[in-house]
Amino acid sequence: MPDPSPLSWREPLILGITGTTNAGKTTLANKLLERFPGSRIIHQDDFFRAKDDPAHEHVENLDHHNWDCLSAIKVDELIQTFYKYRDELGKSGHEGQYLNGHTAQGGARGQPMLIVEGILVLNIPEISDACNLKYFLHLTEEECKARRLLRNYDPPDVPGYYEQVVYPMHEYYSAQLHRRYKDICYIEGTDDPEKIFQKVLCDIAGYGYSPSTKPLGTTS
Ligand SMILES: Nc1ncnc2c1ncn2[C@@H]1O[C@H](COP(=O)(O)OP(=O)(O)O)[C@@H](O)[C@H]1O
Ligand SMILES: [Mg+2]
Repeated sequence: MPDPSPLSWREPLILGITGTTNAGKTTLANKLLERFPGSRIIHQDDFFRAKDDPAHEHVENLDHHNWDCLSAIKVDELIQTFYKYRDELGKSGHEGQYLNGHTAQGGARGQPMLIVEGILVLNIPEISDACNLKYFLHLTEEECKARRLLRNYDPPDVPGYYEQVVYPMHEYYSAQLHRRYKDICYIEGTDDPEKIFQKVLCDIAGYGYSPSTKPLGTTS
């Protein structure tokens, strides 16, 4: 992970979390939100095209859309939401103290960040280039398949979809990321969740951001 460069006035800290499906991206993002109240998360999964959208790539032999490629996502809408949240957090986030050389909203509740998570979020240059911290949570094909079998998808995976589409698409897009960016932090999705969380907290602390002492919803 490169040295953190100072955030300029009116810029929130931006984290991009990508990786293998089921590797723990949403789990990590939600945990960060608990400890940095006021932060915002953008879930790529909220930007899937409708099933009947003609822009979908259809996999004929499976009679199933390819839900694991960029054309399955309303990328323009995702980018516009990203800019909107970034601007809103930038306007609201710097009324407080100057902390460790970085502007940030002070106070015991921590500072707001923008977190973007999903299997392809860092393959979108407008988002990736704006991230201060980039994470890739990785699972092997077998580990991923074992976790995916426990999940229910809408629409449900058809037989052969995982082998023919999910993992090959993942390999294609992750190779693209690997070529484009040298500042991605790779983390094994089988590591202890608390260890993963602490590693990310440590990186965030490098930007002068400290978490709220109590997770959201904790009363004692
Ligand atoms: N570090 C971890 N170790 C073991 N299981 C995990 C870990 N992180 C997440 N999980 C579990 O894996 C499943 C998928 O997690 P999720 O965060 O939804 O993955 P993603 O958003 O990457 O698809 C969930 O059942 C979650 O509880
Ligand atoms: Mg998820």
